[in-house]
Amino acid sequence: MSNIEQTLSIIKPDAVERNLTEDIKKIFIKSNLKITNSKKIHISKEEAAEFYKVHQARPFYNDLCTYLSSGPIFVMILEGEGAVALNRKLMGATNPKDAEPNTIRKLYGISIDKNSAHGSDSVENAKIEINFFFKD
Ligand code: CMP
Repeated sequence: MSNIEQTLSIIKPDAVERNLTEDIKKIFIKSNLKITNSKKIHISKEEAAEFYKVHQARPFYNDLCTYLSSGPIFVMILEGEGAVALNRKLMGATNPKDAEPNTIRKLYGISIDKNSAHGSDSVENAKIEINFFFKD
């Protein structure tokens, strides 16, 4: 039975700034994820705060919002078989130090904050996050 899902991926400011967008896109494409929509944008701190509001009680919330709004990001809708879990596998652990070899965060992440990529953690959140960036 097929399980085609959509998920949201963000290439964060540290990776966009180092011109890693194309290299990261290739990792998704090689793993049979289609990029069905994408755009490069620079969001405000208020928009970042709205996007990351699930983390608002966490001590790192303010820094996280400052960081995501510090420069351009590249947002994508990824589509494919088990896309939510596959994207998370390709990204690797949140902290690049703990990420498996050849994952995006291991290859390119600098720190737990500058970890190069964000991906939705569930199908439900993917819908909310896709709608946040790609309202039609
Ligand atoms: P992301 O997947 O974008 O979701 C929230 C982000 O918060 C996470 O990646 C990290 O970049 C950042 N972050 C900073 N500190 C922590 C922490 N202690 N635990 C989890 N995420 C953190």
